[in-house]
Amino acid sequence: MSKGTLIIGGSQAGLQVAVSLRQLGDTSPITLVGEEEHPPYQRPPLSKEFLAGEEELDSLAFRTPGFYADSGIDLVCGERVCEVSLSPSGPPGPGVAITTSGRELPFDRLALTVGAGARRLPVPGADLGGICYLREYNDAADLRTRLATATNVVVVGGGFIGLEVASAARALGRSVTVVEAAERLMARSVGPVISEFYRRAHLRHGIDVRLSSVVSGFQGERDRVTSVKLSDGTHLPADLVLIGVGVLPRTELPEQLGLVCDQGIVVDAHARTSDPSIVAAGDCTVRPHPITGEGRVRIESVQNAVAQAHVAAATLLGRLDSVISVPWFWSYQGDLKLQIAGLTTGYDSQVVRGDPDDGQFSVLYYRDDRLLAIDAVNRPADYMAVRKALSQGATVAPDRAGDPAIPLKSLINASGSSSGTVNGIGEPLSAGSHLWT
Ligand code: NAI
Repeated sequence: MSKGTLIIGGSQAGLQVAVSLRQLGDTSPITLVGEEEHPPYQRPPLSKEFLAGEEELDSLAFRTPGFYADSGIDLVCGERVCEVSLSPSGPPGPGVAITTSGRELPFDRLALTVGAGARRLPVPGADLGGICYLREYNDAADLRTRLATATNVVVVGGGFIGLEVASAARALGRSVTVVEAAERLMARSVGPVISEFYRRAHLRHGIDVRLSSVVSGFQGERDRVTSVKLSDGTHLPADLVLIGVGVLPRTELPEQLGLVCDQGIVVDAHARTSDPSIVAAGDCTVRPHPITGEGRVRIESVQNAVAQAHVAAATLLGRLDSVISVPWFWSYQGDLKLQIAGLTTGYDSQVVRGDPDDGQFSVLYYRDDRLLAIDAVNRPADYMAVRKALSQGATVAPDRAGDPAIPLKSLINASGSSSGTVNGIGEPLSAGSHLWT
């Protein structure tokens, strides 16, 4: 009897592998096992609407409980897989996963969607009460409770998590300081013009932003944090600290399986790991650039989790589709809607469209005049135009893109594609291609 597919990780990617398997016609058993006690839920609102009290766990759930039974997906919550063994006769080998409670989950096919965990800050005092991280629902619920009574909030890390939480805390009237180690905010994700715009915007909203600042420790009384110490000797009073200094992909299980990992599980364009019978998807992976096929990137986004999981499901069913996906991201901080499409890696020029002082502008990034990406602040039409252009392998003429009176969509120029194909590696899309935009 078929033991079907085991998906380890009750994440957005994990659920999508299960859903896509069913959509692609797989009728064999599917088991989706997750460490958290909650059925898969949306994470992005945890640092925004949930903290503002506008969402609850029920409304964050992707699917109703009935969906899993109706779809023949055996959802196992609150079980951590600690060991996976493959049959010595493989590959492609069936195997069995064992959870910490001793439960055995046999499988014929394996998908890893184990995600990433919040990177910890290893400084003295880091285990004091009132020092929080935000990755999962339970973290967010704890943070929301603490925010209700906090006075001085210090946010360590000026990335997406840190700035979204800082905005939410400020909107609740708390005193907020952001401590960022780098010279600018969100440096991993956006260009310098956007970083500076956000620094000024957060200052205007009353958030104290400290750049190039390093936390050397936390101090407390009776096990509760009372201040954050910076390496220049400054003490920032704090009764609540949120640390958002990035994530580390979970590679314990894949390493145990002998899979190649390099800051994530290394997968190819078809989501195959170094053991081609095992697929992986989402934040736990490093993959070829989704548009050019070059190098290796880790894309921490909902869009990538969904697109890559669909590819992984097709691969499990023996369909090696050619898939081009335009990465996109968003971050809502107060009344500022930041939307990002594409990846800026390697850009050599930029065009600023509109005036940052108006609170509505975009930055387009190019390499050799070829469009790579956009960061758009409160300009959704610009963002949509660039997403469309990238999905078509097109460009947007840089010499005219700076005029905000000209709609970007009217400047989309298909001749920007050097090869006339979307993937830029000279291969036309196959009949089975999916374009995720
Ligand atoms: P991040 O990588 O976006 O930002 C981390 C920030 O912390 C960086 O600016 C970095 O320079 C800074 N940092 C690192 N070490 C530091 C230190 N010792 N002291 C002070 N600053 C330090 O990661 P973040 O914000 O933690 O987000 C975690 C994950 O959640 C990411 O995958 C992110 O993409 C995702 N996320 C995405 C959102 C979105 O798309 N809107 C919203 C929230 C989270």
